[in-house]
Amino acid sequence: MQTIDRDVVIIGAGPSGLNAARRLVAAGKSVAVLEARDRVGGRTWSDTIDGAFIEIGGQWISPDQTALKALVAELGKETFQRYREGASVYIDQAGERHVYSGDDEFPVSAETSAAMDTMIAELDKLAAEIGPTEPWAHPRAAELDTISFHDWLHSIADDDEAVNNIALYIAGGMLTKPAYAFSALQAILMAASAGSFSNLIDEDFILDERVVGGMQSVSVQVAEELGDDVVFLNNPVRFLEWSDNGPGAAADVTARTDSMVANAKHAIVAVPPNLYSRISYEPPLPRMQHVVHQHISMGLVIKVHAVYGTPFWREDGLSASCFGASRIIQEVYDNTNHGDTRGTLVGFISDEKAERIWAMSEEDRREAILSELAAYLGEKARDVQVLYLSDWGNEEWTRGAYATSYDLGGLHRWGALQNEPVGPIFFASSDIAAEGYQHVDGAVRIGQATAQRILDA
Ligand code: FDA
Repeated sequence: MQTIDRDVVIIGAGPSGLNAARRLVAAGKSVAVLEARDRVGGRTWSDTIDGAFIEIGGQWISPDQTALKALVAELGKETFQRYREGASVYIDQAGERHVYSGDDEFPVSAETSAAMDTMIAELDKLAAEIGPTEPWAHPRAAELDTISFHDWLHSIADDDEAVNNIALYIAGGMLTKPAYAFSALQAILMAASAGSFSNLIDEDFILDERVVGGMQSVSVQVAEELGDDVVFLNNPVRFLEWSDNGPGAAADVTARTDSMVANAKHAIVAVPPNLYSRISYEPPLPRMQHVVHQHISMGLVIKVHAVYGTPFWREDGLSASCFGASRIIQEVYDNTNHGDTRGTLVGFISDEKAERIWAMSEEDRREAILSELAAYLGEKARDVQVLYLSDWGNEEWTRGAYATSYDLGGLHRWGALQNEPVGPIFFASSDIAAEGYQHVDGAVRIGQATAQRILDA
């Protein structure tokens, strides 16, 4: 058993934990980051599978994600833009395929288009008014948090196709839960955290840049700079002992793994909130933490990667941006790697559809997925060289994707508690960030901000 003493012990070497460590070390503090997995990066993870470079987890950066952009620049890393030339594809509720200019809205009827515009305007207005920092403090928080996003959209315009299209962006596209399972307030927080709902639905904005070498390489580089005496892999924290002797007194924590004991003055729990309860706290956390942590859960999405000999869709004048709210694969994009002659598509299958896909045999699953890609982009989509599905639900130290959110009604009841420390224990995760909420940028921001709170304490 190795025993170490540090100023701060950080649990989790994802972007939140590593950026907290980076800020603390720069300020002269001694730090240990204990990581459960045999790698850093958490929900950012790149690997070469059957000869193809795959971004298994988080990858895109949008222009408003300035904390992440600054970090990437500081590390001297290059970025590149997503391929976006050519027409987009929309498959409507009746299954009809439409090719349209990606600069335009979905090709829907005038009534559905008007209903979508009304919803977008309302979401933009509320996102600007409520903001990402304290959505629970807004006078309309309770009202907007006790109606499902689905029902709220229907209350604006009773047009199924419009509701499904708008819901797609936040339900399937972001929170990766069905629109009946989370509130309008939770959806507004997601929009506000990206600057506006209009930003969120603009794929040229939200899926703007990628890091050459993969997003995980950002965390790998930060961990390398921190060094082996800071970052300890293969060390899931099982126990966190803590005491709080009141304001001004030295508060202490001890984190225990199977092979290490780390003593410190402060701890940062930088794991996804659905995993807070995997750690045994001694003494137990206060009552309200026990209650709240049970009402935060991971969404579920399958990220589909399909690699081809060439990006064949480009020859057909298509960007490969495809949408179909009622399809199994709800969105598809060109995800070709930097400098790669092969073409890569990425698609997303979310929540209930993801459960159905995982329940299939491997053969049926492959057939269902290739049929979907062919429906959008033609029969050439069946001629795939590598087909890989990111399976985050099977990852013990994540248990879903992309991120966690509250049950219906939870955000206004408990949101104010999520960033409150318990004695010497602080919490940091992209899933409780404001700007960059549920994104790598939010993880960087909350990691840095939590480190600053400890430095200021
Ligand atoms: P994260 O989950 O990354 O890290 C937490 C770490 O804690 C993990 O390394 C875990 O192993 C560790 N851990 C857990 N329990 C532990 C314990 N008991 N002891 C020790 N260690 C423990 N974002 C974005 O900006 N652009 C995008 O395109 C996408 N796309 C995307 C796709 C997919 C498929 C996923 C899964 C996610 C994304 N995201 C994204 C989200 C983004 O990846 C996510 O917001 C950040 O990785 C969150 O960083 P954190 O450090 O907060 O948690």
